[in-house]
Amino acid sequence: MNPVIINLWYVVAAALFIFGLKQLGSPATAVRGNVLSSLAMVIAIAVTLFNKDILTFELIVIAAVIGAVIGAITAQKVEMTSMPEMVALFNGSGGIASLMVGWAALYNMGNTTFTDVTILLSIVIGGMTFSGSILAWGKLSEVMTSAAVVFGAQRIVNAAILIGLVACSVLFCMDPSVTSPYLYAVIGLSLLFGIMAVLPIGGADMPVVISLLNSYSGLAACAAGFAINNNILIVAGSMVGAAGIILTNIMCKAMNRSLGHVLFSGFGAVKQATKVEGEVKPIVAEDAFLILEAAQSVSFVPGYGMAVAQAQHVVRELGELLEKNGAEVTYAIHPVAGRMPGHMNVLLAEANVPYDQLVEMEDINPRIDNVDVAVVIGANDVVNPSARNDENSPIYGMPIINVDQARTVFVLKRSMGSGFSGVDNPLFFGDNTRMLFGDAKQSIAAVVAEFKG
Ligand code: TAP
Repeated sequence: MNPVIINLWYVVAAALFIFGLKQLGSPATAVRGNVLSSLAMVIAIAVTLFNKDILTFELIVIAAVIGAVIGAITAQKVEMTSMPEMVALFNGSGGIASLMVGWAALYNMGNTTFTDVTILLSIVIGGMTFSGSILAWGKLSEVMTSAAVVFGAQRIVNAAILIGLVACSVLFCMDPSVTSPYLYAVIGLSLLFGIMAVLPIGGADMPVVISLLNSYSGLAACAAGFAINNNILIVAGSMVGAAGIILTNIMCKAMNRSLGHVLFSGFGAVKQATKVEGEVKPIVAEDAFLILEAAQSVSFVPGYGMAVAQAQHVVRELGELLEKNGAEVTYAIHPVAGRMPGHMNVLLAEANVPYDQLVEMEDINPRIDNVDVAVVIGANDVVNPSARNDENSPIYGMPIINVDQARTVFVLKRSMGSGFSGVDNPLFFGDNTRMLFGDAKQSIAAVVAEFKG
C-alpha cells in the first residue's frame, strides 16, 4: 500500500483513539469508548500489515494468535480484585515489546544518529518498565512482601547503577551495533534499575507506581515508534505516556503526596504510627437495621472489602430500601479506594447504582456532619482519621473521607485487621462507631432481610 494511504489510515486510527479516550471519562459512555479504541487498534494493526518492509507474515500470524489466546483467556478469568496485577503485567508486556522492537531495529541498515538514540531509549525505558512492572506485580499479588524493601547504601548502589547505565548508553551510541558489548550492558542495567527503583516503594504507594509504569510503557512505545519510523506507534505511545502521567498526578494529589516523595520516601526511616487503643463497640444486624430505619441520610463508603465480598448488588438493594424509607442515599467514593483507579465506580455501575448518587470525597466531606449514618463497607485506609491527626502515621497527609465526623458510623469488616497500608485505624474505637463484624455481603444481606421483615 502507498505510504501516504497508510498514514491516512493512521490518522483515522489516532482520531478514534482520542475519541475513545474521551468517552472513557464517564461511566455512561465508557463501553463505547472501549469499542472505539479497540476498533482503532484493529485498523492500526491491519494497515501496518500492508507495509512493504514486512519479511514474514507466518511469524506475525503465529505471534498474534498466541497473544490473542493468552489475552482472551486471562481477561476472562481475572477477578475484579486482581485487575491491578493484570495492568502491571500489561505494562510489563508493553515494556518488553518496546525493548525487543528497539533491539530488532538495530538490524536495519543506514540508521541515523537520531534513530540510534531512539533505539537506545526504547531499550532503556522498555527494560526498566518490564522489570519494574514484574516487581510491582509481585508486590501487588503478594508473591513477595508488599512493604518497602530498604537496605543500607541503597542510594549509593542505585546511583552507581544509574551512572553505569548512562556511561554504557553513551559508549553504545558511539558505535551502535547488535554485537556491541555495551548493548548487553545497557539491557542488563536497565532491567536492574527497574527492579531497584520499585523495591523501596511499598504499601499504599503502589497505585501511583503502576500508573507511572503505565506512562513509561507509553514512552518506550513512542521511542520504538521513532526507531522503526512508525507514526501510529509514536502517536499511541505518546497518548499512553501522557495519560499515565496525568493519572499519576491525580493519584498523587488524592494521596497528598509529591511524586518525589512516593519514589524516594522509602529511603527514609520507616515511620511508626502511634499505637491505637480503646473500646470496640460491636453491633448486630438487627440493631443496625433499627438505626438505619430511623436515618434521614445514609452514605455508603465502599472500599476494597466490598470488592472482595462482591457486596455491590446487595448494597444497591439496601440503598433502594433506604430510599423507599425516605432517607437520602449517597455513595461516597475515595479516589484510591479499592485496588485500582475507578474500582468502586466500576463495581457500583455493574450493580446499576444511579450515577447521580455517587459523590466524590471533596463533595461529601463538607457535609458529612449532616449524615446520620455512614456505612463503611470494607474500607479501611481511606477512612483512617490518623491520616489527618497522627503526624507519625505512614499515611499522614493522605486526604480521607471523614466518616468519623458523621453522626453514626457502621464499619463492616471481618476482623480488627488493618488495610492495605498495614496501619491501625482509630476509627474502630470512636464513640460514634459501631463494628458490624462479618463478610460485608452477608452483613448487608442480614440488614436487608430485617428491612423486608
Ligand atoms: P483497605 O485499606 O485495603 O481495607 C480493606 C478492608 O476490607 C480490610 O481492612 C479488610 O478487613 C476488609 N475486608 C476484606 N475482605 C472483606 C470482606 N469479605 N468483607 C468485609 N470486609 C472485608 O481498603 P481501602 O480503604 O479501599 O483502601 C485502599 C488501599 O489500597 C489504600 O491504601 C490505597 O492506597 C491502596 N491501593 C489503592 C489502589 C487504587 S488505585 N485504588 C491500588 C493499589 C493499592 P478484614 O480483613 O478485617 O475484613
